[in-house]
Amino acid sequence: MKINLARCLAISTMCVGLLLAGFIFSNTIPLDPDTFLTMLERYVPEDATTETAYYAAVDPENKKTTYADWLFETGFIDDPQDYESTGPFAIHADASVTHQNVADLGFIRRVSTRCEPSCDATNPDIYSVIENYLTFDDAAARTNRLASVTMEWTSAVDGSRPSKKFVVFYAYTGADERDQSPGIPFQPDLDGRGQKAIPGLCNTCHGGAPRDLGSDGTYQANGNTRSLFLPMDLDNFAFDPDPNRQELSRAAQEAEYKKMNEIVLTSRRSKEKFDEEAGMYRLAAGHELIEGWYGGPGMPNDTFDGEFVPAGWLPPAAPVGVDELYSEAIAPACRSCHAQQKRELDFGTYDGFMVFEDAHKELVLSIECGPDDDPKDRGDGNDNQAVMPLAKETYEIFWATGQATVFSHHVGAIDCSDR
Ligand code: HEC
Ligand code: HEC
Repeated sequence: MKINLARCLAISTMCVGLLLAGFIFSNTIPLDPDTFLTMLERYVPEDATTETAYYAAVDPENKKTTYADWLFETGFIDDPQDYESTGPFAIHADASVTHQNVADLGFIRRVSTRCEPSCDATNPDIYSVIENYLTFDDAAARTNRLASVTMEWTSAVDGSRPSKKFVVFYAYTGADERDQSPGIPFQPDLDGRGQKAIPGLCNTCHGGAPRDLGSDGTYQANGNTRSLFLPMDLDNFAFDPDPNRQELSRAAQEAEYKKMNEIVLTSRRSKEKFDEEAGMYRLAAGHELIEGWYGGPGMPNDTFDGEFVPAGWLPPAAPVGVDELYSEAIAPACRSCHAQQKRELDFGTYDGFMVFEDAHKELVLSIECGPDDDPKDRGDGNDNQAVMPLAKETYEIFWATGQATVFSHHVGAIDCSDR
């Protein structure tokens, strides 16, 4: 059963049918060990203290303790006094879009991005904000905001290495504050499974890893956790169905998405390197992907094409037919996070992916045999308690819609009686 999520959402009755069919026929969702959005090997314990230390490293003068101040400091608005919690915001954006990401967290997102001094400059600073809502009506009016999360691509505030840019994260409450209560920085609950601290929560999808504090209690490396901006994968999105807001349809926003993906690529350009596993030269998966969606290097096409398959998943680099695994399981269930991982784990080639064959069986498929750990240990970041896909919605869709069947067909089913 081939299911293209975007197509299925476009025709929503069909989608309900497909999802129901998924639930009824064999594909029940295994009980998960409650380890979503938690790092594994690179896990470090995080709490209000580590988060406070992180903000002290990235914003030592406390210039960005409210959302309005963040928008002002990053040039989205001219004066913090002009900020209003509803109505227009982020006036000086270079690209803005609205969508629902139906493949990971399910929120309706208003995204705005800007570059300083400009997006055509070499090595610009980049600022991006996402406001999260439960409905398109709320998103349109900016009412009942759940939270706003922001990212910067800037150099260390201590002035060291001004040309070396890296990602910094912030999160603001629905009331536009960085603290959730006085002195306690906001820890978002993105999936109903509890609050989690910045930056580790963000690292689970945006790549990189949180750091331990130094012996003096400061956050190391100026808060550089080696994360990346994420591409806009339009096939994971649903769009505002209100006919009175045509400007938020996919077609009307295509050009803005292309701009946004070009900006993301600015921060993610990689060099071709020889890939030992696949025996070919290749770019980092995220770079190849963004260009591939728009017709390859130079991005000649105006319209996003989600059918793109990387060269490492096609003959001669890969066996005939494994592109099915890529298109029907990896692309919807793994890629949005793994494209930010180091090359060994970026799933840019079939051979590279299969190096982790045993780990895939253990982390993805063995959950069918039931969680085998002590519930007291859950969420401590150890491999043997984790489950992939590492996000709740993504995991549920993986098991409910037949992605898991395609996955085990190619990776190899496991036998629970062996365990
Ligand atoms: C929500 C984000 C996310 C999704 C979705 C996701 N992963 Fe991961 N995955 C991660 C992160 C983060 C790590 C590394 C954690 C660390 O190093 O602490 C990881 C690690 C792994 C590892 C461990 C490799 C090792 O070092 O042993 C495997 C295997 C893996 N993922 C497979 C998959 C597969 C297959 C899918 C899709 C079915 C998937 N993941 C989906 C975030 C994700
Ligand atoms: C479950 C995975 C997931 C987690 C966790 C996550 N993000 Fe994202 N983020 C995404 C995806 C996917 C996109 C691309 C846009 C979209 O799909 O809506 C994105 C995009 C963004 C953007 C827009 C710029 C860009 O990268 O394209 C910002 C800003 C952002 N995220 C901030 C954060 C912050 C801050 C955190 C931590 C509090 C966070 N995100 C945690 C998945 C995640």
